[in-house]
Amino acid sequence: MIQLTLPPKILLGNAAIRQVGALARGLGARPLLVTGRTALRTGGRLEEILRILSDAGCRAVLFDQVEHDPSIETVERGIAATRRDSCDSVIAIGGGSALDAGKLIAGLANQPFSVTDFFDGTRDIERPALPFLAAPTTAGTGSECTKVAVLTDTARSIKKGLRHEWMMPRVALVDPELTLSAPPDVTAQSGMDALTQAVECYVGRGANPVTDALAERAISLLAGNLEKAVHEGNRIEFREAVALGSLMGGMAFGNAGLGAVHGLAHPVGILHGIPHGFVCAVLLPAVCDFNLPARREKFDAVARLIGAKSADDVPATLAGLNAAIGIPATLREFGLSDASLPRILQDCRSGSMANNPREASDDDLARIVRRVL
Ligand SMILES: [Fe+2]
Repeated sequence: MIQLTLPPKILLGNAAIRQVGALARGLGARPLLVTGRTALRTGGRLEEILRILSDAGCRAVLFDQVEHDPSIETVERGIAATRRDSCDSVIAIGGGSALDAGKLIAGLANQPFSVTDFFDGTRDIERPALPFLAAPTTAGTGSECTKVAVLTDTARSIKKGLRHEWMMPRVALVDPELTLSAPPDVTAQSGMDALTQAVECYVGRGANPVTDALAERAISLLAGNLEKAVHEGNRIEFREAVALGSLMGGMAFGNAGLGAVHGLAHPVGILHGIPHGFVCAVLLPAVCDFNLPARREKFDAVARLIGAKSADDVPATLAGLNAAIGIPATLREFGLSDASLPRILQDCRSGSMANNPREASDDDLARIVRRVL
């Protein structure tokens, strides 16, 4: 059986952000506006959005304290703000961190238990979430169209993807113009996160014909336009193609799951403070190399989509793309070493790892990690 869960409303287009007032008003009159500390500060973007919301009759409460890899404490503070100011909806505008934090604040605001209970899996969502609108300012995580949010327990150094049907955004609002101000390194990392997600779900165990169609288009859009979006970031046509690829990849992996790159990326990222997209980009060629024997036909198709000569050439072509957009071949400079391996192997057995097309033993995974040292 194929089952698909997607946001009821998806908008993609330049200047789509101008619709945020009317869309938000349909969800509530007092939204919590969740964003990062800097994303909307440039060029008066935040003031513009607050004005659009107020013109539509929304009295927004600003919560602009989301850090990279949002913590349990940040989500708790956001929930406290919704209760203090009687917010009836949540709007998140920013990178993947702001979107994930907003999704968790909306999902957990009405629950009779703590964020930690949900993180530890001792309680599950039992009351409806606050209506949630997500508008990304980077093209990468696909969080605007999935029911998944990544949360970090900083005290225990654990990063987890948390999911629930009711955490799906009501509205995904994708405006490629919002990504114009993303600097080259952010564009490169978030774009490679998107490409990793599209490839992982395409070759993964949960793939189906619908997610395959979405992932194939996502892979070709991202592989064909990311380098240009990084080096010519002011050209809107490249930003549009990468934003569309990221959205379609999100629609695919949100339903088909991920793989070993994402299984490994969470412990590697949190232990060494490396941005998520960066870790994914560096691990992707090595994991593809490992997965090739299990999905040769799929990798033949990936080869055609990314312009590689053959399935066997896919890892080298992906490594070449990394090099072309300024991502190094190893994670050594971030302090990753053999000493981190036991902890990585202990914390990498997530749902993403279970979706990987080829069973990976601890020895297999250790070999993959050693390749990026
Ligand atoms: Fe990711």
